[in-house]
Amino acid sequence: MSNNTKLDLPEIVPQHIAIIMDGNGRWARRRGLPRLAGHRAGTENLRRVIEACVEFGVKYLTIYAFSTENWTRPRDEVSGLMRIFDDVFDRELAELDRQGAQLRHIGRLDGLNDSLREKVRNGIAMTKDNDRLVLNVAFNYGSRDEIVHAIQEMIKDGLDSEEVDEDLVSSYLFTAQSPDPDLVIRTSGEQRTSNFLLWQSAYSEWIFPDVYWPDFGRDELLAAIQEFGSRERRYGGLVPQQT
Ligand code: IPE
Ligand code: IPE
Ligand code: MG
Repeated sequence: MSNNTKLDLPEIVPQHIAIIMDGNGRWARRRGLPRLAGHRAGTENLRRVIEACVEFGVKYLTIYAFSTENWTRPRDEVSGLMRIFDDVFDRELAELDRQGAQLRHIGRLDGLNDSLREKVRNGIAMTKDNDRLVLNVAFNYGSRDEIVHAIQEMIKDGLDSEEVDEDLVSSYLFTAQSPDPDLVIRTSGEQRTSNFLLWQSAYSEWIFPDVYWPDFGRDELLAAIQEFGSRERRYGGLVPQQT
């Protein structure tokens, strides 16, 4: 019996899962708590989800933590979120390292306060040789901003128009070191991209579990991977008839 059978995993486990961690505010409101309590709760389950990815053999996990548009939220919420992210680094970095996860950042580090920026840089340096899981944290990330940034860099590098093809564009994105996601999960019931991995998710499977992010754990991840296993990916072509 293969390991996948024992775990009830499909034959093909997504190599790269990307998650839009949505619904913290509504999770808190349902309990009569302030929104920031929801954001805190939404960091408690992260460790379980990372552990489950390692257990299931997922090699890349990309999590959407803060978008370029989230700066438009009330000042108290933004500063509260920054504090929470700061605490998460203090609390989780050693554990992340122990799990064999390599931390990477996608998005813009400028715009963050000095302390947080330093913590991100230290975390990346500390875990750079780990190879069980790559954890891309999308923080101050927007897909349109990423594409604009890529175009600016291509122009700065003096490329000729004939040199520009899809592989080259991919290599200028913040995600250049990761394959495209096979599966994108958005929790909370919302069904939109909200400026996440627009280029990279062209042929990803999308799943929208009906739970708020703090309630998403190992079982919900397993269910999403099982659903992924039942999808037929066609990439615009035709699947050969099964006999
Ligand atoms: C996601 O939860 C976390 C961030 C965007 C930082 P929300 O804060 O968007 O929660 P809802 O969508 O209001 O419930
Ligand atoms: C997307 O969620 C961003 C993150 C989860 C970090 P939002 O809650 O910001 O997206 P909208 O506003 O519902 O589209
Ligand atoms: Mg939201």
